[in-house]
Amino acid sequence: MSNQESILQALARPIVFQVPRRLTSPPSWVMHAPLAMWLVEALRPSVLVELGTYSGTSYCAFCQAVQQLKLPTKCYAVDTWKGDPHASWYGEEVYEDLRRHHDAQYASFSRLVREDFDSALAHFDDGSIDLLHIDGYHTYDAVKHDFESWKPKLSNRGVVLFHDTNVRERDFGVAQLWEELKRSWPSLEVLHGHGLGILLVGKDVPQPLAALAERTGASSDDLRLFQDFFAHLGRACLAEVSLEESRATIAERDASVDSLLARCTQIAGERDEDRRAFSAEMSRLNQLYRQELAKPKGFLAPLLVIKRALGRLCRGCSAEKDASRKDVAISG
Ligand SMILES: C[S@@+](CC[C@H](N)C(=O)[O-])C[C@H]1O[C@@H](n2cnc3c(N)ncnc32)[C@H](O)[C@@H]1O
Repeated sequence: MSNQESILQALARPIVFQVPRRLTSPPSWVMHAPLAMWLVEALRPSVLVELGTYSGTSYCAFCQAVQQLKLPTKCYAVDTWKGDPHASWYGEEVYEDLRRHHDAQYASFSRLVREDFDSALAHFDDGSIDLLHIDGYHTYDAVKHDFESWKPKLSNRGVVLFHDTNVRERDFGVAQLWEELKRSWPSLEVLHGHGLGILLVGKDVPQPLAALAERTGASSDDLRLFQDFFAHLGRACLAEVSLEESRATIAERDASVDSLLARCTQIAGERDEDRRAFSAEMSRLNQLYRQELAKPKGFLAPLLVIKRALGRLCRGCSAEKDASRKDVAISG
C-alpha cells in the first residue's frame, strides 16, 4: 500500500460520510463537519469544550459524532449567546433554537454553558480537556487571550482547533496567531471554509492524528491529499445546506401560492354571491318597473279618452271660429 493509500485509509472512516444533522447559518463552519467528526473518532476525547457556539453547527457536529460512535465523552459549549463584533449581535431566538435541538438529542452527555469564556474557566480542572475548539471573537488579542487562558486546562492528549486561520480581512487575527503557534507545536490545517487549524499541544496525542500531522508536515502531496479529502466532503455539506435553503424557499413559495389561491377562491365566491344578489335585484326592479308601467296606463286611460275628446272638441271649436270669421268678412 502506498503512503497516500494508507492516508486515505486512515481518513475514510464511516463517520466522515454521515450527514450532519445540524447545518445552520452562518455557513462558514458547515464545510468542517466531516473533519470535526473524524477528529472526534481519532481522539476519542474524555472532555470536549467549545468556546463560541452560536447556532451550533460545529458543536452539534462534535456531539453527533460522540453519539454515533457511542463514546463516553462529556461535551460543553461555552457562549454568552449574545454575539460579538465579528459574529454580529443576535437575539435570544438563536439560543432557543439551539437549545431545543440540543436538549432533544444530546442532553445526556452535553451542556450549554451560558457564560463568558473567562468566567467559565472556573468550571474546568487543569489538565482535563482533550479537545478544545476556540471560535470566539477573532481579533489577534482576543484569540490569543482565549488560547493562553485555556491552555492550562488541556490534558496531555490535548488538541486545540482554531477556526478562521485562513481569513485575512478586517481585523481578524487568527491567521497571525496560527503562524506563531504552529512553529511551537505539530499541526495540521485545511484552507477551505475560512481555514481550520488543528494544534497538537499535548505530548501524548493519539497516534492516528500524531502520525498524520507528521506525514503531512513532511510531504506537501500528503498534506494536499488530506486537505482535498475534507474539502470535497465539506462541499457536499455546503450543497446539503443550499438544498435545504432551496427546499425552504420552495416551501415558502408553495405556502404563498396556496394562500393566494385560497384568496382567489374566496374572491370568486364573493363575486358569485354579488352576481346572484345583483341579478335578484335586477329581477325585482324589472318587476317593479313593469308594475309601474302598467299603473299609468290604468290611471291615464280615462284621461286619454278625455284628452282625445278635448282634442276633438278643440278642433270643432276652431272650425266654427273660422266659419264665423269668413261670414264677418263677407258681410263687411
Ligand atoms: C464565530 S461565532 C461561533 C460560530 C460557531 N462555532 C459555528 O459553528 O457557527 C462566535 C461566538 O462566540 C461568542 N463569543 C465571543 N466572545 C465571547 C466571550 N468572551 N465569551 C462568551 N462568548 C463569546 C459569540 O457570542 C458568538 O456566538
